[in-house]
Amino acid sequence: MAKKNDGLILVIFGASGDLTLRKLIPALCDLSNQNLLPKNYAILGVGRTEMNDSTFREKMHEGIQKFIPNTICAAKPVNDEFIERLHYVSINTSDSNDYSILNQKITNLDNKFNAGGRYLFYLATPPDLYETIINNIGLQNLNKSPQTDAWRRIIVEKPFGNDLASAKALNKKILEVFNEDQIYRIDHYLGKESVQNIMVTRFSNGIFEPLWNRNFIDHIEITSSENIGVESRGGYYDHSGALRDMIQNHLLQLVALIAMEPPAVAESKSIHNETIKVFQSMRPLTIKDIKNNIIRGQYTSSKIKGVKVLGYREENNVNTASKTETYVAMKFFIDNWRWSGVPFYIRTGKRLPIRVTELVVHFKPSPHVLFTKETGVPMLSNQLVIRIQPDEGILLKFGMKVPGAGFKVQEVGMDFHYSQLSNSPLPDAYGRLLLDCILGDSTLFSRGDALEATWQFIDHILTAWHENPDIKLYGYPAGTWGPDNADELIDSPERTWRYPCKNLTADVNFCEL
Ligand code: BG6
Repeated sequence: MAKKNDGLILVIFGASGDLTLRKLIPALCDLSNQNLLPKNYAILGVGRTEMNDSTFREKMHEGIQKFIPNTICAAKPVNDEFIERLHYVSINTSDSNDYSILNQKITNLDNKFNAGGRYLFYLATPPDLYETIINNIGLQNLNKSPQTDAWRRIIVEKPFGNDLASAKALNKKILEVFNEDQIYRIDHYLGKESVQNIMVTRFSNGIFEPLWNRNFIDHIEITSSENIGVESRGGYYDHSGALRDMIQNHLLQLVALIAMEPPAVAESKSIHNETIKVFQSMRPLTIKDIKNNIIRGQYTSSKIKGVKVLGYREENNVNTASKTETYVAMKFFIDNWRWSGVPFYIRTGKRLPIRVTELVVHFKPSPHVLFTKETGVPMLSNQLVIRIQPDEGILLKFGMKVPGAGFKVQEVGMDFHYSQLSNSPLPDAYGRLLLDCILGDSTLFSRGDALEATWQFIDHILTAWHENPDIKLYGYPAGTWGPDNADELIDSPERTWRYPCKNLTADVNFCEL
């Protein structure tokens, strides 16, 4: 019998798909190279595509080298032992009869590798298959472990539902087969080092928390921009849009981390309890808020650095009259003691000038203006920029005296870049999340009630957009920062969005894109 936690059969549904090739297998290969996987493990890919073990292994080998060139795994010759532990079974995932073949295959691998009944199921298929797969895992009794030191867990990829009703239905379905502590709802942003660091920055330093509230903070800004378009995912994206694809999950998770109260202990339950309180305190948006405080946009064709790029409606598998938004900027409030009256501005979009995710805490200016800013603008507001990617790090902006006569003030920055810590790239988000799940730590995964709370907030917007087609969808040329109207969301002449550069510390007025 394998020792506790020494065994694992990882069953990946959707193994012939992109996520498995680009993210999951390279991340697992890295974990194996660092000896972080249980000693007795095997990975079983499940898909409809006909393949045998050796074709699957060849394909995955290529993926490791091609898609994540930064990982430890790709830097070394690919570990043969890892490749030999990859297996594949082709079944029709919609056909219940095929699941006995899968059950048999898992049992054989368990016996061969002495995995001790520890099974982790990963749903990386299109979401319309989730329910069938979960049902069949239950029918085959693969959700229950007969031995006491064995376990069964399931990771569910996003999108988790399409609106509040479907998210609730999916939660209900999974809970018929698995208990909450067996379910790991993944949001890969939570696996990013720089995202986890938000909590560490706030709660391991004495200097930030006393200022982290409505008395000292003017507003919070979060941007997650991408320079790519929808690429080969037009079919999925056209039914999703930026609000569902990025805001309901990744951006709201960032909001929770920046806004939450300190958890009692750094443990899953405590952190999840604080997270859901933030979602529950978000002021529900009225139709007026949705009309005035949300800007949606869609990219149109344009030239980027002299090269013509397609508009969204010309992309593959996108409806030529599509009204799907590829950009959203919005303003909202969190109604609690800490944040009362502090606006939160968040925005995301595809085909913007660069790929950047960052949070900016804009502090209030000093109450009395003694000195003039060099530019002649009297107000100087400190900013704390928490950069999630790229050039991960932190930048604090403040005023310093310009040397020479008088008391002119210039804005300068104090910065930390993760690259200063080591030459190795930051660990991949999927690796961290897979490992946590194998170890039974659900801290960086979403709890069902929190997920429903995010959908509850988003549902108002979806319904309003659906029922009021007159709410404008603005076009914006690919390669620009989205519709100009988004600037009007920020209602004071002293406030603007930060237009970031790739390099965290570069002057935003002169950045090279
Ligand atoms: C995914 C979205 O969840 O996140 C994609 O479906 C988006 O549309 C991606 O491109 C962004 O992730 P990252 O890690 O590149 O910021």
